This record gives sequence, C-alpha cells and structure tokens, in this order.
Amino acid sequence: MYVCLCHAITDTQIKNAVSQGDSSLADVKKRLGVADQCGKCARMAVQIIQNQLERE
Ligand code: FES
Repeated sequence: MYVCLCHAITDTQIKNAVSQGDSSLADVKKRLGVADQCGKCARMAVQIIQNQLERE
C-alpha cells in the first residue's frame, strides 16, 4: 500500500527501514524521503513506524 504518494513509498518500505534500524519519522525521512514534500503522509508513516517498533 502506498503511504507517500509524492515519492511512491509503500508501507513495506517503511517497515523495512525500521527493521534496518530506523526508529523515528526523521530517520525514515532521511533514508527514503518520506514526508519531505507535502507532508500529508507523515501521520500514517509515524503509525507504521510505531507499529513496527512494537513488533520488533
Ligand atoms: Fe508524502 Fe506528500 S505524500 S510527502
């Protein structure tokens, strides 16, 4: 599922970024560019990051 339409970033890519050590929106933004354009995806991206952190 696409989370960030500006950069065509999926939830799977965000989960993988967390698995590789990212633990915040700032980390994932740096790695993938998520939420660095319109910002509409930020809230959903944060939820995905938090869910993935709880799973790991
Ligand atoms: Fe992610 Fe616009 S949808 S920055």
